[in-house]
Amino acid sequence: MTDTLDLAHHVGGADVPAPAVLEQCNPAAPDDLVVRTPEADLGLVQEAVSAARRALSPLDRAGVEARADTLASIARALAAQADDLALLVTRETGKTLTDAKGEVLRSARIFEFFAGETIRNVGERFASTRPGAMVEVERAPVGVVAAVTPWNFPMAIPAWKIAPALAFGDTVVWKPSELSSATAAALMRLIAASGLPAGAVNMVLGGGSTGAALSAAPGVDAITFTGSGAAGAAVRREAMERGVRVQLEMGGVNGLIVMDDADLDNAVDCALNGAFFAAGQRCTATSRIIVHEAIAERFTAALSARAQALPIGDPRDPKTVIGPLIAPRHKARVAEQVRVIENAISPRFGGSAVELPFAFYPPTLFCDADPKGPLGQEEIFGPVAGVFQTPDLDAALALLNGVPYGLSAGICTRSLASTEAFKRSAQAGMLMINLPTAGVDYHAPFGGLGASSYGPREQGRAAREFYTVVRTAYQKPL
Ligand code: UN1
Repeated sequence: MTDTLDLAHHVGGADVPAPAVLEQCNPAAPDDLVVRTPEADLGLVQEAVSAARRALSPLDRAGVEARADTLASIARALAAQADDLALLVTRETGKTLTDAKGEVLRSARIFEFFAGETIRNVGERFASTRPGAMVEVERAPVGVVAAVTPWNFPMAIPAWKIAPALAFGDTVVWKPSELSSATAAALMRLIAASGLPAGAVNMVLGGGSTGAALSAAPGVDAITFTGSGAAGAAVRREAMERGVRVQLEMGGVNGLIVMDDADLDNAVDCALNGAFFAAGQRCTATSRIIVHEAIAERFTAALSARAQALPIGDPRDPKTVIGPLIAPRHKARVAEQVRVIENAISPRFGGSAVELPFAFYPPTLFCDADPKGPLGQEEIFGPVAGVFQTPDLDAALALLNGVPYGLSAGICTRSLASTEAFKRSAQAGMLMINLPTAGVDYHAPFGGLGASSYGPREQGRAAREFYTVVRTAYQKPL
């Protein structure tokens, strides 16, 4: 056990201590009180927005090369401290140490990528239709960006919002989830030590009300949000009303199709990873496994054997694959959703019959659930999935697309024709062929269709769309 951390907000280049009102215990060891967190009120949020606005010109004056150097130095610091940071992520969120270390290193890569983007932000020049004149198109900073981030990727998601903001000359007010504030504060410390102008990145801690205050704060030019559909919808309404640019990443009930010509071992690997790794707490997780009826029993038997053998336990143990859920109250929500499904059918494995301590929840699989029922339609955000049988690819695609979400979708097949049909028809922003629905690269566009996402894509070169405004200058030399 380690000491309890007491956190402060970070505004205008200085820590702002305040009385703690929120607490987070280690979800794998509830006696370990990890962190006490204050909650920012409207006044502090407003101060943070003003500090971010004041930092815009110093950030611009510093120039692109200095900004690139700063982002690269944050990347190096993350990589150098990866072991300690991973331990903190694991202690606070229950993410396995292996995943946590991977996430810290991925965050370093993200900062490194956007260090490069800083000096690659080129414009365009056109000959004007009016002789003698010319037209110049510039990508200018959008201004003050409000970033609201979740607990499930407590470092990588903040990294992929803060790094591009800085790369393109924006300043940031960041509200991390209250369930991962300690990790956020550790990242904030590294960013604050990197030599950026005071106020370039500000962190206001707190729960949903702080996030709502930030999304509604005057002076915010753009809001980037990752979290629940309900909170996202509120952010969107608020932003639309005030004409503020907004980017939302919300849930998914992602489907993986397994055809009868699939490599069965690989298909089982994909389903296992997508449905159960990270205890199902990824918006890209697989909750619907749509299997060709000719192989359904063989596939389900193999998946069941593998899933039930997954080591559950202490997330610090390198052998552990399934750690706890984020918090006991999240486990209670998952358990309640499972109980509703159990009213209609019994699980193939897992479910309410398996009692685990604290925030641990067992991998759970249902077979032949109603695709229009809760398992087929609602996000669970836990290690819970269903196998749905299908007679052919057309029926599989209809099932796949029969939800309002469209974040990620997968197919396991050796057929080029099936792959092409899937790529044409699957209603999702990310398509995975012979790969799990979860797990994305940091240099490619990330985002979904339908109820999963709103606004421009995140990550990779696509990030420029959200973090810059286009300005067109017509010029006639005299
Ligand atoms: C991934 O699958 O690697 O909250 C990333 C989430 C997503 C990120 C998924 N925004 O789970």
